[in-house]
Amino acid sequence: MDLKNEINNDNLPQHIAIIMDGNGRWAKKQGMLRAFGHENGTKSVQTTVESCAKIGIKNLTLYAFSTENWNRPKIEVDTLMKLLISSLKKELNTLMKNDIRLNTIGNIEKLPSSAQKQLLEVINKTKDNTRMTLTLALSYGSREELISAVKKITSKVKNNIISIDAIDEAIINEHLYTQNLPDVDLLIRTSGEHRISNFLLWQIAYAELYFTEVLWPDFTEQHLYEAIISYQKRERRFGKTSEQIK
Ligand code: FPP
Repeated sequence: MDLKNEINNDNLPQHIAIIMDGNGRWAKKQGMLRAFGHENGTKSVQTTVESCAKIGIKNLTLYAFSTENWNRPKIEVDTLMKLLISSLKKELNTLMKNDIRLNTIGNIEKLPSSAQKQLLEVINKTKDNTRMTLTLALSYGSREELISAVKKITSKVKNNIISIDAIDEAIINEHLYTQNLPDVDLLIRTSGEHRISNFLLWQIAYAELYFTEVLWPDFTEQHLYEAIISYQKRERRFGKTSEQIK
């Protein structure tokens, strides 16, 4: 049965974030190199992006490369960068057809210039699309993002642009890479790991967490719908009592 029919369109998460994990183990299970896992991972990226747009998700953020991933063997980093470039080239038409805007968060200047160029091209060509914002977290680390926000805010305080008393959640939000995105409602992590791994620490304060054993290259449209249905069955209390919510 298609789980899509069980989704309540009036209670969709506004923002889904995904830690795509398990490419390496998926490849190893079939006696292949890790690169094969990443290659197949891009197929799951493609179906997940299209499925989210199709059902009306407004924001999807994918953890594609963390600040810590730079410590992987050079050959693997190179493979990931090549896959990023080729996927961007290949998917531009799909993004346009589905009215999806591409956005990035992270320390993009650290990426090879060829990847930066390709990203800027797709960001620019999709900038007027409005159906969904797809954000790729690239060379992203949440602690680094918070440090950078603290530096920007303190510098404004020093220059009397804002007062210390004015610092509130809205000011912090405005200085994060995610400044134009709403908080995450649903965070999905594949591959059976139960960790956040330095991803959107501030933005997931009230997110519902969903962990699945499925390895990322095996993650299908139906797995995405399972996660959304699980989200819709939960009561989000935001610190209030159950009675207050009703
Ligand atoms: C985690 O699997 C996955 C990554 C570090 C990278 C995710 C990248 C892709 C899905 C492909 C390229 C992305 C885009 C946006 C085109 P892992 O290598 O940590 O797996 P393991 O834990 O089993 O070793």
